[in-house]
Amino acid sequence: MTNVTRLECSACGAQYEAGHLYNVCIKCGKPLLVRYDLARASKSLTRDALTSRRADMWRYREVLPVENDANIVSLGEGWTPLVSAPRLGNSLGMTRLIIKDESLNPTQSFKARGMSVAVSMALELGVKKLAAPSAGNAGGALAAYAARAGIEAHIFMPRDTPVANVIECKMTGAHVTLIDGLITHCGAEIAKRKDAEGWFDVSTLKEPYRVEGKKTLGYELAEQLGWRLPDVILYPTGGGTGLVGMWKAFDEMETMGWIGSERPRMVSVQAEGCAPIVRAFESGATHADEFRDAATVASGLRVPKAIGDFLILDALRKSGGTAIAVSDDELLAAVAEIGGTEGLFVAPEGAACLPALRKLIQRGDVDRNEEVVLFNTGAGIKYIEAMT
Ligand SMILES: Cc1ncc(COP(=O)(O)O)c(C=O)c1O
Ligand SMILES: [Zn+2]
Repeated sequence: MTNVTRLECSACGAQYEAGHLYNVCIKCGKPLLVRYDLARASKSLTRDALTSRRADMWRYREVLPVENDANIVSLGEGWTPLVSAPRLGNSLGMTRLIIKDESLNPTQSFKARGMSVAVSMALELGVKKLAAPSAGNAGGALAAYAARAGIEAHIFMPRDTPVANVIECKMTGAHVTLIDGLITHCGAEIAKRKDAEGWFDVSTLKEPYRVEGKKTLGYELAEQLGWRLPDVILYPTGGGTGLVGMWKAFDEMETMGWIGSERPRMVSVQAEGCAPIVRAFESGATHADEFRDAATVASGLRVPKAIGDFLILDALRKSGGTAIAVSDDELLAAVAEIGGTEGLFVAPEGAACLPALRKLIQRGDVDRNEEVVLFNTGAGIKYIEAMT
């Protein structure tokens, strides 16, 4: 059972039939998005029906693309806690500060959501070998889900990826290659070799299904808040798949009549050492130039060029949000501050949201009375080298 009607290019609108393997749009090279018959989906997927569903992201089954339930590759991803942060909020003079704690996913990051769907679809469509470049957490998730599906995983990581990420990929059966370069170089290596090796490339937004998994962040947020959305969302942005996914989820929920047309202000948080989206946002550009000599300890944010840049920028602008960069010193200090006030040992990427919020309050972009959600996308424990 699937309610997928077609795939659609996010840039040129070209249409593709469901049930086949695709990477990007053949006409323009941009990401493809999955479209559903939402009227049909909403017949069984109702807000009431959800109260008795499984406590993972597959509770939103009708708006996920797998045809046959037997192909769902799951380790219990999603339905992570939305934790109020009163002590941290208090230090900022805020009363409604919330953290969505994605470190409680399988493989300890939000990458589990996207890989659960991408690997399920790969299994359904008969793929035998998957490949992806990774800053760390995506690789760990791909390795785990591929192992569970009995599919080969080939993961290319920058040599300075946190060692925990490299080890977890190896321990869950993946073939790991370390590259002297950035994630973009890892992606280029896969592109060069994939045809000869028979790999299907699951780079983020270069296949249509990871974003479908990530969009469940948006569904969950609304459900956990009692079917409304917060005023502001701060999201640590590399490839931007979670942000693009949430934005898609909000539209789908509105079409199904679950929420109105109001949207949170979406904020992309980046590191000063790699801030292509911030630069593009500030200059008014619709696409982001590659960020030269990218460097930050928040390895998930070390993405100098994102294929979905125009989708990220569009969501930021349509939502009335913004993009903001913080320094490595600021984001590392925030790991200890969030840990010390709320007991969450967050990833540096997630921690970056805190100094970003402080700056937004100072700039007058966020009011202290607003409801703000920070996304902690991963687990601090995997970044021990950066913290010792
Ligand atoms: C912990 C963490 N946060 C954020 C990101 C960035 O995610 P996205 O590519 O969806 O913007 C990553 C990506 O590797 C990550 O591992
Ligand atoms: Zn296109």
